[in-house]
Amino acid sequence: MIPQADPSRRIARHRDAVLAAITAVVDGHEYILGSHVGRFEQAFAGSLGAAHCVGVNSGTDAIALALRATGIGRGDEVLVPALTAAGTAAAVLQAGATPRFVDVEHSTRCLDPVAIEAAIGGRTAAIVAVHLHGHPIDMPRLLEIARHRSLVVIEDCAQAHGASLDGRTVGTFGNAAAFSFYPTKNLGCIGDGGAVVTSDPNIAKRVRALRNYGWQDGERLSATAGGNSRLDELQAAILLALLPHLDAGNGERRLLARRYRETLADSAVGLPACHPGSVYHQFAITVDRRDEIRRVLRESHGIGTGVHYDSPLHLQPAFAAFADEPLPVSEQLARDMISLPIQPEVAAQAVDTIAAALRSLVGPAERKAA
Ligand SMILES: Cc1ncc(COP(=O)(O)O)c(C=O)c1O
Repeated sequence: MIPQADPSRRIARHRDAVLAAITAVVDGHEYILGSHVGRFEQAFAGSLGAAHCVGVNSGTDAIALALRATGIGRGDEVLVPALTAAGTAAAVLQAGATPRFVDVEHSTRCLDPVAIEAAIGGRTAAIVAVHLHGHPIDMPRLLEIARHRSLVVIEDCAQAHGASLDGRTVGTFGNAAAFSFYPTKNLGCIGDGGAVVTSDPNIAKRVRALRNYGWQDGERLSATAGGNSRLDELQAAILLALLPHLDAGNGERRLLARRYRETLADSAVGLPACHPGSVYHQFAITVDRRDEIRRVLRESHGIGTGVHYDSPLHLQPAFAAFADEPLPVSEQLARDMISLPIQPEVAAQAVDTIAAALRSLVGPAERKAA
């Protein structure tokens, strides 16, 4: 069976470095906010070209704390794409604000700028720009829209570690950016982890306090009501060991995506937008009869696939109260998309087999009449 993703294979690939990192923490006698967290924060910020990184416990908390640290809270409306992980919108609620769902573009699967402009209202205070599937959203265009309306922009980079636009890394465009290190991510740990990245020292300082009971400047005094959103030493040490391999892994994903494009050309498969800065956290195609094709791939060819995501957030019970209109592109993509295996440790030897099986199921592209 070819799984859709298997983070344990990446850990196996870097096993010696990961075990050395774990041993260093065990022998270091420092388990919370010690030297590994600080070193990882510096290394990760440096790799992105950002000034500050604050390690936290998850991508969801990273978004919530970034929103709180930029002054977003009760009474504020935050625009989020309908097609994203639940954590994106859960974080808005966690910050005390209200999510407003916006449709995405069919080709990029990221926020549609025209829909954003149409959704901005009197209470809109921020946009969470999700670089879905590792595709970098057009940040200059989005920032231009935000600047006219004085909106805060938080980048959700949970699926886009190392993605770039014209040589500039995503996560360095908005007021702040949130990363997740969930095990399947392009940079993932052995548990939960996340980070807020920003070039604004005041935002970084607030997030640092908010992740640790609201304590500031080493004083055990809660200036603000923070929680416990700390990244732990063990995860930070593992991330430090894996960070040097991120670029190579992203390069392998790009080659696999190119191979899928070549082998699926002229088939009835719909391909995702092609962008040189994408890091292909997912390679999500579209097909007719999606569920049947997934079933046959699994049962007859032993190929596991995923769907990211099969229910847009505005159609999920937890967020239904914030849904005010149909969002047809997100709804269509949720019906048609299939995430093919793209993790290098899973797909490197299997990409041609997967593409051939898919081609045999969907057939050739329909020729348009001349
Ligand atoms: C786009 C996006 N945003 C937010 C999150 C939430 O991250 P975490 O699971 O680390 O809380 C995820 C992870 O699933 C994600 O993919």
